[in-house]
Amino acid sequence: MNFNIATIPGDGIGPDIIEQTVLVLNRIGEKFGHTFHFTEVLAGGAAIDATGEPLPQETIDICKKSDSVLLGAVGGPKWDNLPGDRRPEKALLGLRGELGLFANLRPALLHKALKDACPLKPEIIGDGLDILVVRELTGGIYFGERGRRTGKFGEEAYDTETYSVHEVERIARVGFESAMKRNKKVTSVDKANILESSRLWRSVVEKVAKDYPEVELNHMYVDNAAMQLVRNPRQFDVIITSNMFGDILSDEASMITGSIGMLPSASLGEGTLGMYEPIHGSAPDIAGQDKANPIATILSAAMMLRYSFNLEKEAACVEEAVTKVLEQNYRTGDIMSDGMKLVGTREMGQLIINAL
Ligand code: NAI
Ligand code: MG
Repeated sequence: MNFNIATIPGDGIGPDIIEQTVLVLNRIGEKFGHTFHFTEVLAGGAAIDATGEPLPQETIDICKKSDSVLLGAVGGPKWDNLPGDRRPEKALLGLRGELGLFANLRPALLHKALKDACPLKPEIIGDGLDILVVRELTGGIYFGERGRRTGKFGEEAYDTETYSVHEVERIARVGFESAMKRNKKVTSVDKANILESSRLWRSVVEKVAKDYPEVELNHMYVDNAAMQLVRNPRQFDVIITSNMFGDILSDEASMITGSIGMLPSASLGEGTLGMYEPIHGSAPDIAGQDKANPIATILSAAMMLRYSFNLEKEAACVEEAVTKVLEQNYRTGDIMSDGMKLVGTREMGQLIINAL
């Protein structure tokens, strides 16, 4: 099959990690008989330098016409003094909005070979952790009405959490569909003992669950979920939650897996078009030095194969190759420990390609 992928290397280590990921995808194409056409586009600091805009219209147009978008990272000290709406990060929010990407999938997977990097005790980790956080990305308190006003005690500020049935239903479906591809278990996280928006959330999730009778569903309050993630993380498989709760819980979940250089993400909308990117930033301190860990981006490409292209076998092949290279004790600097073999960005990419 043929697929069009828009690539946004962006800034800092972005170009280093995208280069290796494109090579991995090309090898997958050869191996399984697919053709990936890459169109490189500008966003972030690189786009500001070239065009004056963090998100040029041409980038939006090309991304919309593509089958999916692969992004490195944007931003860096060079652009730190620009005003809010002209900064590189504007490109990310702009793209999510333009492409209607309302679901953010963040798997937190602890590789057995990296068990030492996990801050939790071995008896809590057991034989490994594998959690998928499905976070609502375009609604809730981050997008609700906000402002300042004068209240009883003088100046005050407010933010509002709003969720529609439609918004909850579509994110719940993404969660249940993901669960069907995994272990058929969903935990919906809310604060339904207090928040009306959470009560609506809970009732809509219950309704969607009826379409997935094979999936086991439980509900959990967010404060308890935060505690359970460190007390007994193995009870979770897929977590579905709101924008703000997901922001916080996915960072917590990601920490239990060790390095930021390992964690991929997918942002999905109504159709198959998605945006795939590592969760880390542009790491200006190591940019262009062949030091960045490309694994988070390579695993993001695996998510692209799975979620946008429905190529499960190919996705699993990439993930297994990463696991194999880690089991052979190769490490980039961020995951390096005693007795391991230190490699750079390019060598790590090549090792993964060899393992495919
Ligand atoms: P960062 O994630 O870029 O770096 C934090 C630390 O982790 C640094 O020491 C860095 O060297 C290391 N690190 C990150 N990714 C790594 C990798 N793949 N391999 C090895 N080490 C890695 O976060 P920071 O420093 O807060 O932000 C730097 C810039 O990135 C800022 O301009 C920020 O706005 C931007 N940023 C962009 C994001 C995006 O494009 N999605 C997300 C987060 C930050
Ligand atoms: Mg966050």
